[in-house]
Amino acid sequence: MKRKNPERKRIMKDNIVLIGFMGCGKSSVGAKLAKQLSFSFYDTDKWIEEREGKSINDIFGLNGEEYFRNLETNTIRKMEKTFHHAVIATGGGLPLRHCNIKILQQLGTVVYLKVSKDTVLQRLKGDTKRPLLQGGSPDEKVECLLSQRESIYQGCCNILVVTDQKSINQIADEIITQYKAIYKN
Ligand code: S3P
Repeated sequence: MKRKNPERKRIMKDNIVLIGFMGCGKSSVGAKLAKQLSFSFYDTDKWIEEREGKSINDIFGLNGEEYFRNLETNTIRKMEKTFHHAVIATGGGLPLRHCNIKILQQLGTVVYLKVSKDTVLQRLKGDTKRPLLQGGSPDEKVECLLSQRESIYQGCCNILVVTDQKSINQIADEIITQYKAIYKN
């Protein structure tokens, strides 16, 4: 008798959740992926900005990081209840809360887009939209945050794709191949 893919059994919903560090390409890859699969595309940061009527920078500045993290948890709780056939790009810090990891895993297949420090620094050079990277040395900040987060991203994903030096199309194709392999059985 053919055995079911054990990974498939664990993943209950058909959504794809993209996680990874700032600048790893979650939003651009997510939009491409959604188009290729005819899924809807959502971005937790955009969702929060629209509902709060403020930029992420302003939410951090006016309400503080803890407030923003609560909004992230509430957002994925809502998505988990109603979403199907969706690709969801998440903010880079969202998997840091332990309770969020469980929700993300219930939401769908968790895909970690791995990126190196050098690629992040190159892609986010001059960026002013990410409060955690403002002021001080970007090199040190990225290095420190990446080393704190790497094992968390890696520990909660179903699929890992290294994104350095790859095009958006290449990354989307790799995700689709691995996603279909999980859903084959
Ligand atoms: C954050 C990442 C950002 C945004 C916020 C905090 C983080 O999203 O949610 O600035 O803690 O890594 P991106 O990963 O889309 O840049």
